[in-house]
Amino acid sequence: MYALITGASKGIGKEIAVELAKNKYDLILIARSASQLEEVAKEIQSNYGVKTQFLATDLSVPDAAKMVFQWVEQNNYPVAVLVNNAGYGLAGDFESYSLEQNRAMMNLNMITLSEMCQVFLPMLKRHSNAYILNIASSTAYQALPQMAIYAATKIFVLNFSRALKFELKDSPVSVTCVSPGATDTDFNDRAAIPAKARKAAEKVVMTPQDVAKISVDAMFAGKTEVIPGIVNKLGAFLAWITPKIITEKVAAGIYEKS
Ligand SMILES: NC(=O)c1ccc[n+]([C@@H]2O[C@H](COP(=O)([O-])OP(=O)(O)OC[C@H]3O[C@@H](n4cnc5c(N)ncnc54)[C@H](OP(=O)(O)O)[C@@H]3O)[C@@H](O)[C@H]2O)c1
Repeated sequence: MYALITGASKGIGKEIAVELAKNKYDLILIARSASQLEEVAKEIQSNYGVKTQFLATDLSVPDAAKMVFQWVEQNNYPVAVLVNNAGYGLAGDFESYSLEQNRAMMNLNMITLSEMCQVFLPMLKRHSNAYILNIASSTAYQALPQMAIYAATKIFVLNFSRALKFELKDSPVSVTCVSPGATDTDFNDRAAIPAKARKAAEKVVMTPQDVAKISVDAMFAGKTEVIPGIVNKLGAFLAWITPKIITEKVAAGIYEKS
């Protein structure tokens, strides 16, 4: 049986792929970079003896999910685990990015993620146990000036996942949403996170290996919503009880480019 992981060429997605290989799933790895995917596929195959396929494609374009599903069907890969992990942020003023840049991020983080769930559900339902793991972010727990769209895409992921889990409660498909906090990956570079915010996260940053292990364990345990790490759990709780104007001011101060 196959597990399909988006954003599997590096960071959290690569480590989720490793965790699933340890659980003896064959893997379908997806990201844009063919060379990085090939390397990860070879490494995991030789370390864990599972089959690894990869597809290099841009998941931010319209109908990306449909195209991936057609490729999976043509190759007869029975997918029983779907991990929607590919995503990125853009730090700075909302207006400082073009329509196309903001749209591509929304497409990847929300549209493709929900369409992957939709196109793969009939296949997942054919298994006696199947899983969807969606990766959101601790930014899902508050509005985030200076990462306005990114944080909004992640609350979409969280609420969509919760609602889908409920709708599927009498089906064999379990849905889990994991919201990591700062994790040591290339995320900060792609998002152009300012030095101030990186420094603030330095003491609480988690490894992608730890985040992946917590995510996969939570998925197999059938959990609905998980925030890895005690500091991140506390952060979400504080964001919930603190007046919004304060949490927004603090966040803006941290993420503002000087
Ligand atoms: N790191 C953090 O601090 C943090 C915190 C909270 C949540 N998250 C979330 O965790 C998830 C994984 O991020 P990460 O930290 O592991 O970042 P990362 O190291 O930058 O990895 C991102 C992965 O997504 C792939 N990807 C990016 N754009 C893509 C596209 N258009 N089409 C297909 N694949 C694409 C990347 O490969 P290619 O570039 O080759 O396409 C890569 O495999 C994201 O959803 C992110 O929002 C991260």
